[in-house]
Amino acid sequence: MADVGLPVDEVYEPPARVRDGALVADMETYREMYRRSVEDRDAFWREMAERFLTFSKPFDRVVEEDLRTGTIAWFIGGKLNASVQCIDRHLAARGDKTAILWEGDEPGTNRRVTYRELSEMVNRLANALRRRGVRKGERVAIYMGMVPELAAAMLACARVGAIHSVIFGGFSPRSIRDRVDDSRCKAIITQDEGRRGGRAVPLKANVDEALAEPGHSVEFCIVYRHTGTPVNMVAGRDEWWHDAVANESTDCPPEEMDSEDPLFILYTSGSTGKPKGVLHTHAGYLVHVMCSHKYVFDIREDDIYCCAADVGWITGHSYIVYGPLGNGSTTVMFESIPTYPDAGRYWDMVDRLGITVFYTAPTAIRAIAREGNDFVKKYRRTSLRVLGTVGEPINPEAWRWYFNVVGEGRCSIVDTYWQTETGGHMITGLAGATPMKPGSGSLPFFGVQPCVVDEEGRELEGNGVTGRLCMKASWPGMMRTVYGDHDRFVQTYLTAYPGKYFTGDGCHRDKDGYYWITGRVDDVLNVSGHRLGTAEIEGALVGHPAVAEAAVVGYPHDIKGTGIYAYVMLKAGYTASDELAKELRDAVRREISAIATPDKIQFVEGLPKTRSGKIMRRILRKIAEGEPENVGDVTTLADPAVVREIIAGAGQAR
Ligand code: WT7
Repeated sequence: MADVGLPVDEVYEPPARVRDGALVADMETYREMYRRSVEDRDAFWREMAERFLTFSKPFDRVVEEDLRTGTIAWFIGGKLNASVQCIDRHLAARGDKTAILWEGDEPGTNRRVTYRELSEMVNRLANALRRRGVRKGERVAIYMGMVPELAAAMLACARVGAIHSVIFGGFSPRSIRDRVDDSRCKAIITQDEGRRGGRAVPLKANVDEALAEPGHSVEFCIVYRHTGTPVNMVAGRDEWWHDAVANESTDCPPEEMDSEDPLFILYTSGSTGKPKGVLHTHAGYLVHVMCSHKYVFDIREDDIYCCAADVGWITGHSYIVYGPLGNGSTTVMFESIPTYPDAGRYWDMVDRLGITVFYTAPTAIRAIAREGNDFVKKYRRTSLRVLGTVGEPINPEAWRWYFNVVGEGRCSIVDTYWQTETGGHMITGLAGATPMKPGSGSLPFFGVQPCVVDEEGRELEGNGVTGRLCMKASWPGMMRTVYGDHDRFVQTYLTAYPGKYFTGDGCHRDKDGYYWITGRVDDVLNVSGHRLGTAEIEGALVGHPAVAEAAVVGYPHDIKGTGIYAYVMLKAGYTASDELAKELRDAVRREISAIATPDKIQFVEGLPKTRSGKIMRRILRKIAEGEPENVGDVTTLADPAVVREIIAGAGQAR
């Protein structure tokens, strides 16, 4: 989006009905709590951990950190298990409360899973995993669609101390295999098929293809039957979920975990190389996501809370599964997409389920806003109190539509800035307290110490500054390492500005101390809120026999936020054509996922390079953005004529 990150001079106060009775109901309370959370950090987080978690053995010390070596530990010495936090301790008072309210792909197909039922599902599956030899510290991949059993599978892994690695259902067999190999997963939990927008997603078939070549670590697969479509079952390897749990007891003693024992790995794209396995732990992560879920959305006991993301991404881990279930909330799991069967789907669901807190991404808001207001007005939406946005900067126009048309000025909007690596919210408003500015994530969450640095790493003090966003100290939900590659963790996040965590984002801090995220300053693209590395996409393109070299950049896209623009140089003997462009798109889909498909492919004779051979992406970005006049100085290039040729050919991008 062209207009993101530029401060707008508009302030909206939280509506009275959101303020009334809110946990944090005014800015004085926020400021006082925030001050304590950084000035008296240990005491603040000790109190939060004791309030939000139930330890079987209390922790001895709150935190130990060294941001240079990447040694980070919270709630040291404590013992607990995340599945107990999310289930067992709710059973006495909330056994019959709906834990997961499932809305299937077809409007109105619902399932209510109570905390007691969820407990039974999780315990049975945990016993089945243990019986099949899954032990503490071993990795289990989960490749499923948005069904309650996905959450149950995650919690069952946690219960036996296994580290789950959820792989988004939109990823290709190749991507599954890369992830399974990287962390040597012992098992895969999957389902026959997923459903999305009326279409089938061949989950089991993709797993079969991922495991077709020998040499993998997977000993068995458990397959949940969802649509009932026949799938291939490999004898000795694959078992139906229903059969595997049939004779298991509903009581599975939880593994006692250390605060710092790993809970899960989630792969995410960076500027270089293959996606890395971001690792989160049992105690710190849970405190952070529960505490932020509660305070940011101002969660109350009878809320019907809905985060419309997919559990395959961090948003779903933290704010569909662990945060809400940890807090004993009713969490909606939405299997479909915002435009199925039409652009009114969200609001139809809000009315039918009585949703009070609704959390989605700017790309979804833009996609339905352009279909017109009638799709919103058809529904009452009176249950809504809080609206949330996440995943990318929201352009003020989309923000105003969300606030005025969807919320009719009666709801607060919380714009939550965070990352896979941060585990939970970092910069965000609190629904009942924070005055809102359209397009700004507003202020730091408790315990979060952001700073803005210039390119040399000097911290820019005061307000009205622009630079790169870093964190000065760790927070409980911070990632602990890159699975199997601690050096990469230190290199990627802790080396650019020694002693600080670098987010990869640019930002502006305005006169009131509000943060405006301007987007990634590295080679990471945020396409419809999905994170992709340009290097990964280039790798997939170069894998095609016709391609000699490829360079991928982002450009502003009305719906996706960022679109994917690929410059492709062919090998001698190949000629540019629409068919070849299609083949290249298919190759990216096959290697990575449909979400990584280039929007535009431009065939070029050469790429702009420095004399030392480095591709000048700055130039390619300007051309992709449609601003060739701003390419700047090209005289230092090995062959400046290349730039003229690319500019001339930009109109033929296909
Ligand atoms: C990147 C992280 C956090 C869950 C979803 C994405 C961008 C995320 C916002 C926001 C501006 C945002 C950043 C960040 N981002 N939320 N509210 N405002 N930018 O997680 O895949 O790890 O991506 O998403 O660029 O670095 P992710």
